[in-house]
Amino acid sequence: MIQTAKILKGFKTAESRWARFGPYYAMFPVEFAFGVIENYSKAGDFIIDPFAGRGSSIYAGGVLGRHSLGIEINPVGWLYGSVKLCPADKKDVIDRLLEIYYIKNYFNKTITELPNFYRMCYCDEVLKFLLAARRHLDWKRNNVDATLMSVLLVYLHGRLGEGLSNQMKMTRALGINYSIEWWKRNNLEKPPKINPAEFIIKKLNWRYEKGKPEVFDSKILFGDCTLKLVDIVERAKTANIKFSLLLTSPPYCSVTDYYADQWLRLWLLGGPVIPKATKEKYKGRFVSKETYYNLLDSVFYNCSFLMDKKSTIYVRTDKRDFTFNTTLTILQKYFPEHKTKISESPFNKKTQTEICGNSTKNTGEIDIILTK
Ligand SMILES: C[S@@+](CC[C@H](N)C(=O)[O-])C[C@H]1O[C@@H](n2cnc3c(N)ncnc32)[C@H](O)[C@@H]1O
Repeated sequence: MIQTAKILKGFKTAESRWARFGPYYAMFPVEFAFGVIENYSKAGDFIIDPFAGRGSSIYAGGVLGRHSLGIEINPVGWLYGSVKLCPADKKDVIDRLLEIYYIKNYFNKTITELPNFYRMCYCDEVLKFLLAARRHLDWKRNNVDATLMSVLLVYLHGRLGEGLSNQMKMTRALGINYSIEWWKRNNLEKPPKINPAEFIIKKLNWRYEKGKPEVFDSKILFGDCTLKLVDIVERAKTANIKFSLLLTSPPYCSVTDYYADQWLRLWLLGGPVIPKATKEKYKGRFVSKETYYNLLDSVFYNCSFLMDKKSTIYVRTDKRDFTFNTTLTILQKYFPEHKTKISESPFNKKTQTEICGNSTKNTGEIDIILTK
């Protein structure tokens, strides 16, 4: 834990400034991700996280010199994760931001076509700028655009003064009607007046103040891990690579909906203007126990071909019976030779749902650790 303590102390290194990049629901506390990787692997090892979220495990692995591979299906999590592994140069990001800022007035008319929610959430300057960014940033293919877009996502909503929006939670966007009622009740009908270029440049200056993080061979693939893993198993076999550590936290059955929670950020990425429940596989809430079982079964089955005989499988999951028992059963099925240890939240004081504002007693996380 010596290296972790040095890297994360205060915000004195580029690595610590970028480590917490990207508010996301149920994210790993960074100390936890660094702690597990330092404890259960060594430099040069291969590590994998099939449910990478905002990429904390992959980032920690890369910073600590491990080859790290993640997969994430939600574009918000994927963008945070992949940008922090390799942010574009600050100057290029600022130049691109100014280009977007100068074309924002073409969107004068478009703002009136949006539901009232948007004009209560953002002042006109911000809204036009966001619409220009939404139309023009090629965040899937271009690293400068991806970096700028991911920074906009970070500050898209938050407490008054901390983001571009009217008062909102940072980790998840609340519903349209709920937000409007709340702003009305609290005399916050008018959004804060913000110059988006000045606001974001200030944030970029802070983020880049210590430079860019040094991250060793790491990548997060965008897509469904049940499909991507099939290809990874083939490639690893051809290259004769075995993984030493699987560190992950799968979605919890019937708890979170990463699409509903992130609906406003997904809008900025080109998604629907109002929150819509998605029917696409693995993208909404996991309500069906059968689908949930099949997801974990497929993922850990494929991972069993990737892992070294002496590897560690470290899974942080929900304490509630169904998710916990399903995860434990499947892990023991595919790693029968490993020893199982159950542990409650080591390496950090708060649970990851407490960090997001949920501190009810019968919920929370538990760690299943399989070692050889
Ligand atoms: C508990 S979160 C992981 C959070 C992560 N440990 C972090 O620090 O941000 C579970 C993640 O799994 C993703 N997910 C769910 N189904 C998936 C699938 N089939 N393929 C890839 N990712 C998936 C969700 O989008 C979500 O981001």
